[in-house]
Amino acid sequence: MYNSKIIGLGKYVPENIVTNADLEKKIDTSDAWIQERTGVKERRHVVKGDGNTTATMAYKASKIALERAQIKPEELDLILMATLSPDYYFPGSGVLVQTLLGIAECPAMDIRMQCSGFVYAVATADQFIKTGMYKNVLVIGAEQQSGGLDMTTRGRNISVIFGDGAGAVVMTRAENNSVGVLSSHLHSDGEHAKELSLIGPNTNRWVHEIMAENDPEDISYYPYMNGQFVFKHAITRFAEVIQEGLDATGWKKEEIGILIPHQANLRIAQMVQRKFQLSDAQVFNNIERYGNTTAASIPIALTEAWEEGKIVSGTKVVLAAFGSGFTWGAIMIQW
Ligand code: COA
Repeated sequence: MYNSKIIGLGKYVPENIVTNADLEKKIDTSDAWIQERTGVKERRHVVKGDGNTTATMAYKASKIALERAQIKPEELDLILMATLSPDYYFPGSGVLVQTLLGIAECPAMDIRMQCSGFVYAVATADQFIKTGMYKNVLVIGAEQQSGGLDMTTRGRNISVIFGDGAGAVVMTRAENNSVGVLSSHLHSDGEHAKELSLIGPNTNRWVHEIMAENDPEDISYYPYMNGQFVFKHAITRFAEVIQEGLDATGWKKEEIGILIPHQANLRIAQMVQRKFQLSDAQVFNNIERYGNTTAASIPIALTEAWEEGKIVSGTKVVLAAFGSGFTWGAIMIQW
C-alpha cells in the first residue's frame, strides 16, 4: 500500500468580475444583503465568446498544476474531473480536458458529487494510488455555472452566491507513508436530494416536454435551494466529518495547519471555525472574491493557500465539503 500526495496545484478563473453592485442592476438585491448573508463581494462569470467552458478552464488550471508538478500530460495514468456543470449532458468533461492536454487512452472519469466533488475525487485518486494501480493522477474541480442561473429577482437566493472557475492538483505516489493523504471520509444521504438540486430536464421529463408545456411558472431547469435547510445540515455535517478526520488521524484541532472548507457561504465557514475554536490563520476563505464555485472551490482555495505560503512541508491540511445530494466529506493531508 502506498500513500498519495499532492505535488502540483493550479487554478484558473475567468477575467470577468461581477460585483454585487453589478447584480443590483439586474436583481432586487443589495451589496449589504449579499455580504451580510454570504460574505461574497464579487464572483467571476464567463462571457460568451471568451473561450471559457468548464473543460477549457479545467485545462488551464491543469496545465499550471502539471507544470508545477513537473509531470508531462503523457505521464498521467488517470484524470478525475469533478463538476456539476459539464460542457455537455454527455459525455463528461474529463475526456474533453484529456483531448485539450493532447493525450489519449488514459482513463478520464467524471465525478458528479456537486460541492463535495473534489473531496470525492481526491479520495478516489488516493485509492487508485494506494493500491499501486496508478501512479500519477490529475484531479480537477471545475464549474461554469453562471449561464444556468436565474439572473432575475426570482432566483436571487441562488444566483448571488455562485461563480465560475477551476482548480486542479496532480497527485502521485508518496515516498513514504508518513506524508500525503492520511485518511479520507465520505458520506451521502439521498433523503434530501431535492433540497439542493436541478431536476429539469430529467429522464422522465425531457426538454421537448418542457418546451411543449411552455409553462412560464416552470423553473425546474434552474437550480433550486432550500437555503436555511441546507445551511443547518451543512454546519452539522461539516463539524461531524472534520471530527471524524481528527479522530482517524489522532490530530488535535490546535495542530491543524490549515482548514480549507468548501466555500459554500462565509457564515458556514465561520460557524465551523467557532465550533472547533480555530484561529483565523487556521482557516482559509476566499469566497468574498469568487463566490461559491462548487466543485472548484476547494482546489482554487487550496492553490491560493499554497501560493501564499500557508502550506509548506509539514503542514497538516484538512479539506472539508458539504453539498447537494446531500454529500459531505473530509480529507486529512500531511503535507
Ligand atoms: N437579496 C435580497 N434579498 C434576498 C435575497 C437576495 N439575494 N435572497 C433572498 N432574499 C430575501 C428572501 O426573499 C426573503 O425575503 P422575505 O423575508 O421578504 O420573504 C429574505 O431574504 C430571507 O430569505 P431566506 O431564504 O430565509 O434567507 P436566509 O437568511 O436563509 O439566507 C441564504 C439565504 C441562501 C444566503 C442562506 O439560506 C444560505 O446561505 N444557505 C446555505 C446556502 C449554501 O451554503 N449553499 C451551498 C451549499 S453547498
